[in-house]
Amino acid sequence: MTDTFPAEEVVTSALDVVRTTDAEAATWWRQAVVYQIYPRSFADSNGDGLGDLPGITTRVPHLAALGVDAVWLSPFYPSALADGGYDVDDYRDVDPRIGTLEQFDDLVAALHAHGIRVVVDIVPNHSSNRHRWFTDALAAGPGSPERARYVFRRGQGPDGELPPTDWTAMFGGPAWEPVGDGDWYLHLFAPEQPDWNWDHPEVREDFHTTLRFWSDRGVDGFRIDVAHALAKDLSEPLPSQADLRAPDVLDGMHRFEDRDEVHEIYRGWRAVFDEYDPPRTAVAEAWVPAHRRARYASPEGLGQAFNFDLLLADPDAAQFRRTIEDNLALAHESGASSTWVLSNHDVVRHATRYALPAGTDLPAWLMSGGTDPAPDLERGRRLARAATALVLALPGSTYLYQGEELGLPEVAELDAADLQDPTWQRSQGTEKGRDGCRVPLPWTAHGASLGFGDGPAHLPQPAWFAEYAVSRQEEDPTSTLALYRRALAARRRLQTGEQLEWADDVPAGVVRFRRPGGWTSMTNFGPAAVPLPAGRVVLSSGTHTDDELATLTQLPGETTVWLETTTA
Ligand code: NOJ
Repeated sequence: MTDTFPAEEVVTSALDVVRTTDAEAATWWRQAVVYQIYPRSFADSNGDGLGDLPGITTRVPHLAALGVDAVWLSPFYPSALADGGYDVDDYRDVDPRIGTLEQFDDLVAALHAHGIRVVVDIVPNHSSNRHRWFTDALAAGPGSPERARYVFRRGQGPDGELPPTDWTAMFGGPAWEPVGDGDWYLHLFAPEQPDWNWDHPEVREDFHTTLRFWSDRGVDGFRIDVAHALAKDLSEPLPSQADLRAPDVLDGMHRFEDRDEVHEIYRGWRAVFDEYDPPRTAVAEAWVPAHRRARYASPEGLGQAFNFDLLLADPDAAQFRRTIEDNLALAHESGASSTWVLSNHDVVRHATRYALPAGTDLPAWLMSGGTDPAPDLERGRRLARAATALVLALPGSTYLYQGEELGLPEVAELDAADLQDPTWQRSQGTEKGRDGCRVPLPWTAHGASLGFGDGPAHLPQPAWFAEYAVSRQEEDPTSTLALYRRALAARRRLQTGEQLEWADDVPAGVVRFRRPGGWTSMTNFGPAAVPLPAGRVVLSSGTHTDDELATLTQLPGETTVWLETTTA
């Protein structure tokens, strides 16, 4: 095991954090379980195949029974869905296919009535090409004040017929799009997602207006999309793609990734958050090197930043322990709590990742229709349950992605004709993209779209989705849904401070730690059973009955248990 930080150091650090915070309203986010809803795929109330806000409202009892502290809504704003709603036409409205502002208010009221807080997604790096300021910019022509709100550049060549640089976009293809008059605009993602010019005061002011708009409607916090790319140095000469990525520019000197000036923007946002009581919270989606993450999570900035390291780790004891130690130390550095994520709307679901051999090339596996290599779904299910139980015992906040409470695997067999992710088109059919984790949820085992709605779902559900239906799992005490409900209820009861103390005298393949109040979590990543320490087993990620738990002396392979102990 290659531990970067000695266990004692982490424990001391975490203690410091606890002393200065406590369970006040303003710090609800520090140890919250936040459930991510991808609105178009959660519940469809009107049978048009797209999930909507009233659909979510009807399912609030599911969220309450699950026991989550907050809901994060992925974008529900007006959008042509060129990138699943991350192409926003209007930041201060609801897509008419998804609902109305009044229905948004109803949803917030229903969630708040159950003590569930609400986080909405803010997409500040780019708008959609249907945003009014972008259509104004196109109409106004080169050199106009309207174009100055976005990143327009003259093309190369006599008539500007060549792109300003050879930069490539995240979804593949060029990062510049011509507009027909010699000007090109920058889009780090799809062409339908023009990048904002954050040097423009009107852009800055407009986002403050948006943050206030949703805060005034009762929103408790924000998830900030692509938080690391807003500040850009586009002074001439612009480097080539090859020079952009030179290793020496990754420390705040890259032309548009993780520049230091981005934090000035977030200091301005913090001032807006602090106009509210309790202050609004934020979590940064910032794909930056770990040592740069604390800046985003600082209390003067967004306050918290996603740590995607476990999402990238194999289900392996040494990798999990090292990742957890590193991230607890990093969170302490920023004064934030850490965030734990195993699945979200951008990655292959963890029940499937763990069903595949370590190192599997996931895009290639998706291209094989999920057959090469063949997944061991039973193993994936066991390991996903074990990893989730481990993560839910950690200090900090846990982000759950809709459907993981059902143990849903990835849908790898979607037909090309059904794919919606821009990755598919932009990669010219060489990468399927992220639709396989965005297939609408199965609520019942029968019906047009398994209880999602009254008509077919916008992404087709495979027949095997019925096995995972909420209605079925509600009847089964050994189901993954039952495990999540039990785990969240136990966490609510057991969780106090943010300390964590590692046990080092554990067999190979085992991760064991203790939280305040004698709450111990022990995970056996290996295949063979190992002895359990003394203590009352209060949760198992396996399928043990209560009677079995009471007499358990061995921890089976690929299983996590929580124990209540009075000694370390
Ligand atoms: C990150 C979001 O999670 C992803 O879904 C989106 O495609 C990109 N940002 C661009 O907005």
